[in-house]
Amino acid sequence: MKIVFATGNKGKLREAAEILGEGFELSSLQDVGIYEDVPETGNTLTANSLQKAQYVLEKCGCDCFADDTGLEVDALGGAPGVYTARYAGDDKDFNKNMDKVLYELARLQNESKVAASLGLKMKPFSRRARFKSVITLMVNGKPHFFEGTLEGVIAHEKSGNGGFGYDPIFIADEFPGMTLADISEEEKNDISHRGKALRAMAQWLAENK
Ligand code: IMP
Repeated sequence: MKIVFATGNKGKLREAAEILGEGFELSSLQDVGIYEDVPETGNTLTANSLQKAQYVLEKCGCDCFADDTGLEVDALGGAPGVYTARYAGDDKDFNKNMDKVLYELARLQNESKVAASLGLKMKPFSRRARFKSVITLMVNGKPHFFEGTLEGVIAHEKSGNGGFGYDPIFIADEFPGMTLADISEEEKNDISHRGKALRAMAQWLAENK
């Protein structure tokens, strides 16, 4: 099946091609002549993935899918969430984004230690976090939604050269002691938020199209 993936991110495109396998011929935004930033101004991951898929549908009239992913960190009250790409500024610099998460957690962990030393009763500090992906699939002009979640914790420092985005600071429960950037692409795809959402989408397509 020929389908456009509404992304310009080469890391995501490679992951999706790997996960969906041979039955799919994926085109990127550039492949269909979309070079501008696709708007994502919604307040939720679902709203953003729908907005991206609708934009591509309007531009090229073709079947397509878009994903929106957010990192939720419990100690940060669920931030960066829908602002994951721009957590440290509009330049979407992933190193600055990771540094900000590490800095905020170190600050809060320190505050928590001080509070404990003063005998104040507080919830134990937690580095628990999760990635959530929402995919909107547009088939014959109609949207269908698929979701995937990956649970884990935020590392104390960056590690690894693989993956992209926040991978060097995310330790999935399935691979303790290693970040997503330390494990292989195949290992990440087997457990990842996007892997789960993409496999759900592929199954729906196999049953309905
Ligand atoms: P978007 O879904 O492309 O808007 O991505 C939002 C943010 O999440 C960007 O900063 C991405 O780099 C980051 N991101 C998306 N997927 C992943 C992933 O699988 N691992 C690490 N970071 C990711």
